[in-house]
Amino acid sequence: MRILALETSCDETSIALVDCKGTLRQAQGSKLRFEVLKNIVSSQIKIHRPFGGVVPNLAKREHIKNLPLILKKLKTYNLKLITDAIAVTVGPGLEPALWAGIEFAKNLAKKLKKPLLGVNHLEGHLHSNVLKNVRMNFPAVALLVSGGHTILLKMDSLTKWKKLGETRDDAAGEAFDKVARLLGLSYPGGPELEKLAKIGDPKAINFPRPMLRDKNYDFSFSGLKTSVLYYLKDHHSEHPTSNIEQISVVDVAASFQQAMVDVLVGKATRAARQFRARSIFLSGGVAANKLLRKTLQREAKNLGVNFFVPPFKFNTDNAAMIAASAYIRHLREKKLPIKADASLNL
Ligand code: KG4
Ligand code: ZN
Repeated sequence: MRILALETSCDETSIALVDCKGTLRQAQGSKLRFEVLKNIVSSQIKIHRPFGGVVPNLAKREHIKNLPLILKKLKTYNLKLITDAIAVTVGPGLEPALWAGIEFAKNLAKKLKKPLLGVNHLEGHLHSNVLKNVRMNFPAVALLVSGGHTILLKMDSLTKWKKLGETRDDAAGEAFDKVARLLGLSYPGGPELEKLAKIGDPKAINFPRPMLRDKNYDFSFSGLKTSVLYYLKDHHSEHPTSNIEQISVVDVAASFQQAMVDVLVGKATRAARQFRARSIFLSGGVAANKLLRKTLQREAKNLGVNFFVPPFKFNTDNAAMIAASAYIRHLREKKLPIKADASLNL
């Protein structure tokens, strides 16, 4: 099945064309095969940067403008002839942004006379590892860390999973972005903060590791963000960002990043031990963080379990993962209504 997928849940407009092969049985045995023919991502970061975050109606306007432009780049393909279905993210995400993709997808499906498949964006991240075409072993523990979500799951197969825990307040990416902002970095702060952290001392400041020792698999990052704020306030009286040079910004960045990674890796590896997982999966935008990837990979190796993380280009939002997830949902014969659901869950 060749799927043309659209992703517009936040600030990336993406269209992908993906060949998907395999049966439901093969999905359960992790033997599906995917070939990404095209995966075009147009980022709106520059447009939202002056506002310090994504502005939903601006995002919608940009998606409406970008979708036809991206589709034009696929004009060498006779889409009517070569596609079997259109897929679109229906949630979770920013409602106006989601609608932009859905309306475009509906019209396209009508024009090409193809079925339209709704996709859960979180399932897209969860399934992003399949794009590597490697056989994954189950049960697996999956850590999904993005700008809007932080979820730990136990997966029995590509089609069966159970949520173990999630964040009670800020998502991991949100925490990175908020702390980056405190340090005077521009949006989205995660990658910027990582750059600073690389040259800082991760042991310089002992920030808290929230809920690391709690027996559950939930997370909480807003207290950690507040600790960074207090640290900055304590080290110079008025505006934390005005004389930022007075404190070592790189040490704050490195120490904060280390605290985040300790909590995420600590909980994921404890779950892997408890559920006798054979693999650990990492996905979502924050999976692009090198310290997180490296640390989780090392801990998985120490536990004797496999570690899977998608290539960088499939960590942050992209339509290739939406196509893969659409295919898996199609095999499961579980349809999602074609309407925006901003708070759709796993
Ligand atoms: O998955 P994603 O592209 O969008 C959502 O579905 O939310 O994730 C975006 C999030 C942002 O918060 C961004 O700051 C974070 O992922 N992020 C990172 C890194 N790259 C992206 N956080 C830490 N380190 C990175 N290298
Ligand atoms: Zn995402």
